[in-house]
Amino acid sequence: MAAKIISGTEVAKEIRAELKEKVGKLKADGITPGLVMIRVGDDPASVSYVKGKEQACEEIGIWSETYVLPDAATEGELLVKVEEMNKAEHVDGILVQLPLPKHIEADKVLNLIDPAKDVDGFHPINVGKMLIGDPYFMPCTPHGAVELMVRSGNSPEGKHVVICGRSNIVGKPLMAMLVQKKKHANATVTVVHTGTKNMAEITRQADILVAAMGAPEVIKADMVKEGAVVIDVGVNRVGEKPSAKDPSRMVAILKGDVDFEAVKEKASAITPVPGGVGPMTITMLMVNTVIAAERRATRSK
Ligand code: GUN
Repeated sequence: MAAKIISGTEVAKEIRAELKEKVGKLKADGITPGLVMIRVGDDPASVSYVKGKEQACEEIGIWSETYVLPDAATEGELLVKVEEMNKAEHVDGILVQLPLPKHIEADKVLNLIDPAKDVDGFHPINVGKMLIGDPYFMPCTPHGAVELMVRSGNSPEGKHVVICGRSNIVGKPLMAMLVQKKKHANATVTVVHTGTKNMAEITRQADILVAAMGAPEVIKADMVKEGAVVIDVGVNRVGEKPSAKDPSRMVAILKGDVDFEAVKEKASAITPVPGGVGPMTITMLMVNTVIAAERRATRSK
């Protein structure tokens, strides 16, 4: 039987409606949540992600501003901008879009962001807090993946979750979230990666399989157990096509890390690409920005 398609777009809509209400209450108290994004250079994926985040802010009622620095900007210039935003009273969240050009040390920049404004959840203090089960901000993509599981009726509790990929942005934080002895976690977690022998043997044991390797369609049907839930975090740009809305404009062709057509015949539920984890990532960034603004509102009372 073909799998149920888990729509991230629909779940994101539900969460955004909840957020709009929260923002309305904050504004009534005189607080407008504010997010600042900093992008360096013109990497097409980064341009598109930042635009999506700006649109989500607009939809929910969050004030946002994007600073675009040229590709040749120095590390020092970027650090100065981060410092300035750390000090700005009306800025609740700061996001530096990754990847950064090679001449800039990303860790140095991320470590300078005030942990209280670190809506990406990348600061080592926030990573550590999450690992010990006392999260302050949860990183957006893995948090979005967990919300998608829970809200689609596929809670990870008591399940064997196999995560493919060990990145600092997805694989490792997702492992830390799911292993906690908490509601919507408490899973048995296995992480497979490029150093794993017999990967398929392990992925076939997954009740919930999360693909986060960053390689197009590498999870094939023979790597998936019959009836498993498959969450595809991959966003791979494999080419370009004319936009359906405006054929004079080219848009990226996106593929996930999962061979969707084949795997959907075997899984019980699966997320598509696009329209799966992607919209959830942006939505969880909005969640974190609203949380930061709510903390500001509490401080100012
Ligand atoms: N680049 C790819 N994913 C992310 C993300 O979640 N946050 C930021 N800042 N950059 C990214």
